[in-house]
Amino acid sequence: MMLKTLREETSDLHKEIESDNAAGLIMDHSITLEGYKTLLLQNFLAYRVVEDEIKPFYSEFSTDKSERLAEDLEALDVEFESALSYFKDDFRCKDKIEALGASYVLEGSAMGGMLIAKELQNCQHLNMISKHHFFNGDRKNVEGWKQFMKKVNSEEFSEDQIKKATTKAQETFRFFGKVFNYNPQFSV
Ligand code: HEM
Repeated sequence: MMLKTLREETSDLHKEIESDNAAGLIMDHSITLEGYKTLLLQNFLAYRVVEDEIKPFYSEFSTDKSERLAEDLEALDVEFESALSYFKDDFRCKDKIEALGASYVLEGSAMGGMLIAKELQNCQHLNMISKHHFFNGDRKNVEGWKQFMKKVNSEEFSEDQIKKATTKAQETFRFFGKVFNYNPQFSV
């Protein structure tokens, strides 16, 4: 019931983020190096802030996605720490059930990442990048999602808990949407 509600109540937000996200430029292979840097930086900021909020409650669900984004950004000489201060106060998890709602979004996002990783190989403006750490296409990314589903399906939740987790999952999608509007200028 928890997963079903999370899925139903965030499916419109998922559709919105999927159509607005710069990752669409990877899907149609038109992305430029500057666009890719922006996409990586936006993702770094969103994942880092949300991961830091989940960590105190669920060490097992706290992903290392922002770490891998940091590796990609370092390889491309993009400074990524300073913009964190713009967003770090915009997202909070105050208990375990809110952290579960946020984890749903982070773990589930791995599936879109798999599709994107596949299409990255066909983006000609990025062919000088030899290794993608975040969009790496590794099946392990989906393992985290499977474990998350298993754990959530093995527990009982009250209606109130389902509601709280769902509200936080919706907020997490909106937070990602907000960070995806951040547009730094790079000199390339
Ligand atoms: C262009 C970008 C994206 C694409 C193409 C995409 C695509 C997908 C696909 C194909 C699935 C699997 C659906 C299924 O198996 O039923 C999925 C699931 C999911 N995605 Fe995305 N996605 C994108 C961006 C995102 C972002 C940015 C987030 C969150 C920040 C996100 C969160 C999720 C979640 C939570 C699920 C799990 C849904 C569920 O089964 O409960 N996605 N996505």
